[in-house]
Amino acid sequence: MARHLLTGSELTRADLDALLRRAEQLKVAPHSSRALDGRTVALIFEKPSTRTRLSFEAGVVELAGHPMILHRGDLQLSRGESVADTARVLSRHVAAVGVRTGPDELLKELSAVAVVPVFNMLTAGHHPCQALADLMTLRERFGGLHGLRVAYVGDGNNVARSLALLGATAGVEVVVASPPGYTLNGGADRARLVEDPAEAVRGAHAVYTDVWVSMGDEATAEQRRGDLAAYRIDDALLDRAAPGAVAMHCLPAHVGEEITAAVLYGPREAIWDQAENRRHAQKALLEWLVSG
Ligand code: CP
Repeated sequence: MARHLLTGSELTRADLDALLRRAEQLKVAPHSSRALDGRTVALIFEKPSTRTRLSFEAGVVELAGHPMILHRGDLQLSRGESVADTARVLSRHVAAVGVRTGPDELLKELSAVAVVPVFNMLTAGHHPCQALADLMTLRERFGGLHGLRVAYVGDGNNVARSLALLGATAGVEVVVASPPGYTLNGGADRARLVEDPAEAVRGAHAVYTDVWVSMGDEATAEQRRGDLAAYRIDDALLDRAAPGAVAMHCLPAHVGEEITAAVLYGPREAIWDQAENRRHAQKALLEWLVSG
């Protein structure tokens, strides 16, 4: 059985701790591993991406492998070939398969048949690679994870769910503040859910947000902007968090909506480190996946 990373629940606390330590080593010595020497990793993008594409493509090269970028239209999948048959053929050629798509079911179906690792590069339900980079960034900033509190403010979406799931595995308390209709579900058992952003950030070491209009939500954009207007991270909200608290965002940001420019580019942001740490954390993940 190949190892997979579909939601992040595949990782034990010990796995996660080892993976984050390894990511720190790889950040210091980016070319020290040849874990993918001469091997190809298929990276299938059915949705746009900047950070995920850049970090995986560069990361696979740094591990001495070859990243094969595939868009939906490149594959017979787009013309009706089954996911299962696509998995069978991918397994004959590549060392691992990353997928960014909408339905989580597609990933489950692929991983059920593939005999090589399958990993989630974002689905409607989960974004575990983002959460790995987030936890790595928190470790760098605070020297450890256990006992930290992170307040997520805004839409209870895939990013919030993965943060809650992997944060709980690491011993981080995640508090999610959302208005009615945007509450985190399917991950809620791992997080404390509140409505008031000020309540969520009290005592928090990090205050996290994501866009109000995610990919696929464009039809309800104006409604969402209205509903989430009170869930912006600004300096006043950060001031209510613990002393030394940092601001986090998975990006891309919509300045003036979920975050102000003063926070995004200000002294308390950890956001650009999060973006960089995608590469280091994912390299450690790839090592873990192909060594299973
Ligand atoms: N955070 C994130 O996944 O960014 P991209 O959509 O640019 O990959």
